[in-house]
Amino acid sequence: MTPLLQVSDLVIRYAGPKGPAAVAGVDLTVGTREIFGLVGESGSGKSTLSMGVLGFLPASAVITQGSIRLDGRDLRAAGKAEWRQVRWRELAYVPQGAMNVLNPVQRVGAQFADMLRDHLGARLDAEWRERIAALLQSVRLKPDVLDRFPHELSGGMKQRVCIAMAILFEPKLIIADESTSALDVVSQRVVLQTLSAVRDRIGASIILIGHDLALQAQVADRVGIMFAGRFVEIGPVDTIFQAPRHPYTRLLIASVPSIRHRDGIPMLAEPTPQERAQWQAETEPLIEVGPGHLVAPRHAEEGQ
Ligand SMILES: Nc1ncnc2c1ncn2[C@@H]1O[C@H](COP(=O)(O)OP(=O)(O)OP(=O)(O)O)[C@@H](O)[C@H]1O
Ligand SMILES: [Mg+2]
Repeated sequence: MTPLLQVSDLVIRYAGPKGPAAVAGVDLTVGTREIFGLVGESGSGKSTLSMGVLGFLPASAVITQGSIRLDGRDLRAAGKAEWRQVRWRELAYVPQGAMNVLNPVQRVGAQFADMLRDHLGARLDAEWRERIAALLQSVRLKPDVLDRFPHELSGGMKQRVCIAMAILFEPKLIIADESTSALDVVSQRVVLQTLSAVRDRIGASIILIGHDLALQAQVADRVGIMFAGRFVEIGPVDTIFQAPRHPYTRLLIASVPSIRHRDGIPMLAEPTPQERAQWQAETEPLIEVGPGHLVAPRHAEEGQ
């Protein structure tokens, strides 16, 4: 695997350098053309991690430790001008709640025109219209969506408009945050298949964020399971399903809802801040238990 994104020992805190760690020492490598499924309960730090990588953290968040490299470029050291080069062109984003980020009072075509102007200083001329029509077709939309307002589109269509926007400049890495959660099962499949086809067409890597391990497994090559700001297990999809080693992963696979703390084993319900801090303090770096299969050593169990 040729690494495209390399995140090492990343710590992100809200409310200043002494605030609680939302991302508490994360190592993550995503390969070229790889689809990496990032799974975890609400509050586990998935969006914070992706905002950190994207340089979109709110002012209340600080990166206190670690490094982020995209294709060898040090993103933590990148200044404004460098970010302008990287964002959307190398590193694109389908935000959480993407259906609501489209400007409701602007036709879709005008929103594409804004992106072209802002990032390339280009106009939405006939040539770009043609390219965008092809792009829309690749996400199973007709070019007439350009003339429509967001409220004239279904949730799944809006989601796919956001995917089309993210791939406009053929980025190297796309981070899609919960791109399917608000959709019905049929639209979920279409969106996932669309993302998978995008990888095949432009050769991008994708980080696919979501709650539903089984759903992500349909298209991901590898998955990582986050809990309270850290990965508890990372591995190839088949390995994770056939031989999960961490009890939390097993719970997610079994989809047992709301099991509380049992004998030091993480629960599915969101931990309290105290539980979180204690758990973070106790966890050690992941160890390799099989080819590309990493697990938090504490609580890791033997293969089934
Ligand atoms: N703007 C913020 N200010 C303070 N704390 C925040 C902020 N955003 C997130 N957090 C906290 O950081 C932790 C991680 O949140 P994050 O949004 O990254 O989780 P998530 O895995 O994306 O959850 P979800 O599945 O609900 O989207 C949580 O404890 C959350 O309360
Ligand atoms: Mg989130």
